[in-house]
Amino acid sequence: MAALVHFDAQGRWSRTLSGEAAVGVALRGLGLSFGRWPRRELGDGSLDAVLAAYGPELDALKAQLSIRSVDRVSVKPGNPDWPALRQRFLGEHTHADAEIRYFLGGSGLFYIRVADGHLALLCEAGDWIIVPAGVRHFFDAGERPDFDALRLFSIPQGW
Ligand code: LAC
Ligand code: NI
Repeated sequence: MAALVHFDAQGRWSRTLSGEAAVGVALRGLGLSFGRWPRRELGDGSLDAVLAAYGPELDALKAQLSIRSVDRVSVKPGNPDWPALRQRFLGEHTHADAEIRYFLGGSGLFYIRVADGHLALLCEAGDWIIVPAGVRHFFDAGERPDFDALRLFSIPQGW
């Protein structure tokens, strides 16, 4: 289930929200979007099959945002590329365009900078998030990462 934890500027836990509705409302108030898409069969598992499975959702998204490309990042425990990728994701950063992620499987934590600390958002299979341009954030999936996510870019050179 969706969970959103607020940590204050000293990194101390201050409050937790759970459930799609409560988390969605809290994030909307900060300009972010969060929701769930139905889990679908992924056909042969290729990117094309995944894009076909989520055609209606992706079309709706494209009506709101100018999506130029989509890719998929799947990281399993023991992936030798994870330490380097993790270092990159852990650095707090912003993007010039919206960051859109849909979790096909596994889970990960997005940390979003707010005026009085950070929010940590647990994303699990079926969850999507849109972090608008300019919002400081970082991402982690722990020592033993296990996530499979679609990444939608509105500029070609996104991560
Ligand atoms: C990204 C996430 C890790 O930029 O913030 O891909
Ligand atoms: Ni990012």
